[in-house]
Amino acid sequence: MNNKIYIESYGCQMNMADSEVVCSILQKEGYEVVDDAELSDYVMINTCAIRDNAEQRIRKRVRELRAMQGRHPQLRIGILGCMAERLQSQLMAEEDNVSFVVGPDAYRRLPEILRQVREGARTADTELSTTETYADIEPVRLHSNGISAYISIMRGCQNFCAYCVVPYTRGRERSRDPQTIVGEARTLFERGYREVTLLGQNVNSYRYKDTQGVETSFPALMESVARISPLLRVRFATSHPKDLSDELLQVMARYDNICKYIHLPVQSGSSRMLKRMNRSYTREWYLDRVDAIRRYLPDCSITTDVIAGFCGETEEDHQATLDIFRRVRYDYAYMFKFSMRPNTFAHKHYVDDIDEQEKVRRLEEIIALQGQIALENNKQEIGRTYEVLIEGTSHRSDKQFFGRNSQNKVIVFDREDAQPGTYAMVKVTDCTAATLKGVLVK
Ligand code: SAH
Ligand code: SF4
Ligand code: F3S
Repeated sequence: MNNKIYIESYGCQMNMADSEVVCSILQKEGYEVVDDAELSDYVMINTCAIRDNAEQRIRKRVRELRAMQGRHPQLRIGILGCMAERLQSQLMAEEDNVSFVVGPDAYRRLPEILRQVREGARTADTELSTTETYADIEPVRLHSNGISAYISIMRGCQNFCAYCVVPYTRGRERSRDPQTIVGEARTLFERGYREVTLLGQNVNSYRYKDTQGVETSFPALMESVARISPLLRVRFATSHPKDLSDELLQVMARYDNICKYIHLPVQSGSSRMLKRMNRSYTREWYLDRVDAIRRYLPDCSITTDVIAGFCGETEEDHQATLDIFRRVRYDYAYMFKFSMRPNTFAHKHYVDDIDEQEKVRRLEEIIALQGQIALENNKQEIGRTYEVLIEGTSHRSDKQFFGRNSQNKVIVFDREDAQPGTYAMVKVTDCTAATLKGVLVK
């Protein structure tokens, strides 16, 4: 009957959330989601374009699928997401086993597109929208533990950081109707979920104006979600330093169930680089925001993203990045080598002038420093007791559970009579740079 779909997701959490929307749209039209590509009629790859290596990985995967198509001649392959948007129909010209290419704002058209594909067409729809938020679609929760879920609250980005493809692949920034967000969170809570993460490229820039002109800000939205139940944890990602307001920190301080965890990408510790990157804040502004976090939320964990070897980065700029890492003392960092992306501001106006070896050296220096800081931070946790939301069995041993504290740190402990999906008090007894170990406290 050719109605089995399989979806594979790459890139950020927004892509994971979009895949859940895609499955929901297609399920309503009678498609069945399967978890084995071999058993499917349509394999969809939801792609990322953020760095060149992300795209290379996807190209490799598309070529691997040829063999599967040899075994199952009915199998059709589609590319969704950011790489689909960036390359559009060019992707079908380059990869002749791909039958459809669909950008992030065109998923409502998938049932129609699959129908055309079934009739033998090859088709691309990469139109971007200024209004689409899929607000009315209840996502099918894929690979869910039944405890934590993501909720997309906005789409797109128009900050145009010089290095970044996202404004081109995701279009204009737009916020989703807050009532649908709170409704989705409440439904999840009623189904037993205990944690929601509100998602957007810059969630704290969230702002929704309804038809009467009434505006909802991000702090107000957070408050409405937090009020659903004290048992529902609320997280959010990613925050842009430019919009990290005192008001948001005050709301976070007021609700125990808003997690004390802020992902605050710094990108560089040098104001000169930040300016070239078009990040719209300085090193001083960023450090002031970190001080504000420490002031309102003394037990808040801070994590970051950083890019090593951006165009024109000197040794002095690099040292400024190392220095900001020492000052902030992040609990975790996603660390990247700069990758030049076609059509970005950097591509048009700057030269990718830091050679590969030097990029690697700088990146490795940051990684080594961060590893040391994370371990030191974790050692400070030994002896403290945290409320942990239990997520499931540890990968290492089925006699152990793992969960997270409010600060988003993973804690592993002997399971005893505890239950996933509930809260437990756990005392930290040991650690590595990545994980805490603990014991249940009765
Ligand atoms: N909206 C978020 C991050 C989005 S992309 C923000 O503004 O912080 C996730 C991370 O990928 C970025 O924070 C950045 O560190 C990294 N990144 C983006 N473009 C990159 C590029 N061209 N090369 C290397 N890393 C990049
Ligand atoms: Fe990219 Fe900057 Fe937008 Fe983040 S804020 S998605 S880095 S353009
Ligand atoms: Fe990648 Fe697109 Fe997310 S480029 S990081 S999947 S918004």
